Order: sequence, then structure tokens, then C-alpha cells
Amino acid sequence: MSARLDIDTPLPNAAFGSTVRLGRPLGEEMPVGLPEALAEAGGLLLIPGLDEITAKPELLVKLSYLFGPEVEDYRTLLTRVTMAHETVPEIFMVTNTVPGARPPPALPEPPLTADGKLPVQYPHRKGWHTDQSYRRPPPDISLFYAVMPVDRQRGQTIFASGALAYDALPADLKARVETLQGLHAQPGTGRGRTDAEAGKTPPAILVHQRSQPQPVVRAHPVTGKKALYLCERSQMDWFDGPFVGMQPGPYGDGARLLDELMAHYTRPEFVYVHEWTQGDLLVWDNRCLVHTATWYDTDKEKRLMWRTTVRGNPGPLYAGEKRSWVPESAAAE
Ligand SMILES: [Fe+2]
Repeated sequence: MSARLDIDTPLPNAAFGSTVRLGRPLGEEMPVGLPEALAEAGGLLLIPGLDEITAKPELLVKLSYLFGPEVEDYRTLLTRVTMAHETVPEIFMVTNTVPGARPPPALPEPPLTADGKLPVQYPHRKGWHTDQSYRRPPPDISLFYAVMPVDRQRGQTIFASGALAYDALPADLKARVETLQGLHAQPGTGRGRTDAEAGKTPPAILVHQRSQPQPVVRAHPVTGKKALYLCERSQMDWFDGPFVGMQPGPYGDGARLLDELMAHYTRPEFVYVHEWTQGDLLVWDNRCLVHTATWYDTDKEKRLMWRTTVRGNPGPLYAGEKRSWVPESAAAE
């Protein structure tokens, strides 16, 4: 007989998400019912007190497999191998503790809102994305575990609900985006907004690095609920996009619509700010949420978070598709 989940909905100061407390340690028993709890929570679960994962990282992988048939193996496609966990290659390390690690995002400008709060709404808050949307089919779910978070008020992870945002769209805007496709770019391929605004010529990229179209409105394959599916600056293509079939570039009709949609998507009433405690695990559904990270002082603070990525249920739209990000040569092997 498995222990029941203790579920608290919604997350504090948010309109979605749940806190889930497990009845038994993961090492004794894998919990039952987490995928259902995730769907009911609108795609975000906080499971606190999982410190046992730090000593046994393979538990995070085992837990990840509860959410889907495939957990990404970072040995196969990662160029910077230092970012994969030494012995558990399904774990990607989000950290400033290894050579070559990416620094945290800059502070927003200004650092606080006019009423002294943490800025969350785009464009004051930037970096909003859903994981690996530049791949087709895109992944389903991410798990993010705090081995060593930084002190509160810094290094938060912020989420916005694409379903709440979609439901609240004015009817005319809903109709406008219903069949629209966004063009999602892989950060680092030179197709982001900053490069487009600077008038740069994008570098040549390989076929498997190309930007990928994705529906702006995505029906969730489990719940059927529609949600906005969009990113912004560095994860949209600002040369041919941000939208397929609209005026491209950073100053066109597409840019204006993207800015309007992202400002709506990240309105404070659709947002949850997570202040990390060591041993916290967040599970989020990339099919219906966007998230972003906040600044911390990388000269003074060390942060180590572990992430796994689950794929395998993107919905009927992607049925039978070849993986866009796998080079032809590798696929033929
Ligand atoms: Fe992310």
C-alpha cells in the first residue's frame, strides 16, 4: 500500500501550482499519483524536503521517469560536458561552481518595481522561456532540485501560467493567435533580439540548429487545456520571426505582437515566485508554463541546482516527427 500524497493547492501567493509532501522517503518508495497532481495543479509542483537526493542523485532520475517515457541523457548531445553530472548523465547542472558555467541573469533595470517589489512582468523582467522550445518535438517536463541554493531574495525561479494567461486574453487577441506559429531559436545561434537590433548578419548554422516553428496556442496533451506557448528575447528568431507569416525583425508587426503577448503572459496575477530552500524539488510542465531566473551575486555566492528533462508526450501535432536537433549523421548511425 503506497503512502498518500499530502497536496496543498495553490502555491503561496499564486493562482496555480501545488505543494506536495511525500509520505515516505524516495529511497523507500517512489510516490504514486504525481503526474496526476501535476496536471491538476496546472503544471507546477513544489516537493520540499527531498534532501536525500543530494547523496543519491539517481533518485532524481528514477523520480523523473514517473513523468514520462524518456529522460534526456546529457552525454549524447551536450558540447560542454562539464555541465552534466559526473556519474548520472541525465542530470544537467545549473551552477556557477564549475569552469565555463553560465553566469546568472543580470539584475533588471531598475532592480525593483516602483512600489519596491521584485519585477516579474515582461519587459521589465526578461529571460522568460519554456525549456528547449527550439526543438521539435519539444520536451514535456523539467525537474529542478536545489542541492545548494543561494539565500532568499536572490536566485529565485519565476513561473507564469500559460493557461491562465490564455483564458484571460481578450477575444480579438485569442482569435489572432489561434493558428499562429512562433519561430523559436536556440540561444547562441546568433538569431536573438539583441543581435537583430544591432543589425548583425546571422552566422550560418547547421540544419539541426535551425529555428523551429511552434504553435502559439498549444492544447495540453493530458488535460486538453489551451495555453500560450512563447518565449522572448534570445529564444525567438528575430530575423525570420518572431512569428511565421508576420512582418519579421525586432521592429515589425511580429515584434509588437510578441511584446504585447509576453507582457500579458507575465502579468503578476499569472505568476509564482519560488524562493528556494535546500532540498526543494520543483516539477514544471513546459507545455503550459514559462519560467525565468533571477540574479545572484556570483562573486560571493555558490549555487548548485540539478535539472532533468522528460520527453515523450508532446501531443498529436508532433506525431511521427523526426527530432529536429539530431544531426543527420547521428540519426543514421
Ligand atoms: Fe529553463
